[in-house]
Amino acid sequence: MTEISMTVNGKTVSGNVQGNTLLSAFLREDLRLTGTHIGCDTSQCGACVVHVNGEAVKSCTMFALEAAGTEVGTIEGQANGDGSLNVIQQAFQDHHGLQCGFCTPGMVMSAASLLKDNPKPTESEVREYLEGNICRCTGYHNIVKAIMAASGQDVSAIAAE
Ligand code: FES
Ligand code: FES
Repeated sequence: MTEISMTVNGKTVSGNVQGNTLLSAFLREDLRLTGTHIGCDTSQCGACVVHVNGEAVKSCTMFALEAAGTEVGTIEGQANGDGSLNVIQQAFQDHHGLQCGFCTPGMVMSAASLLKDNPKPTESEVREYLEGNICRCTGYHNIVKAIMAASGQDVSAIAAE
């Protein structure tokens, strides 16, 4: 076991991990941050997306050891300081961008990363960016609509699904 520490959602945390402990497992099992979901554990579904030093990362593809010393952001850290939903989360609620909600944490984290780099993405850019995020409820239409609304664009011309 190796002791590691990192910053998660602005707080310094530490723990003891094996060399093969995935970041996703460290977050969920050691830190009890279970908002990061595990859909596949094989880098396909995107349910486990977190931010590492500001970049979207599938946390099942990274060892916890590799994240030592980094700044990690999870869905638990996305709400506003007063606990209200942030603009992306609110847009998902307003535009029914979720059904069962399993993919939602990863979708929100990916959306945040997209909007940081591309504040006004086109619909096709959103769809392309979400290529690595699978929604098993297939609610993509409203997810895309929510992300475009979160970017401040008029989505009234996009039909409801
Ligand atoms: S659990 Fe990481 S991509 Fe599916
Ligand atoms: S809302 Fe169910 S998996 Fe996406």
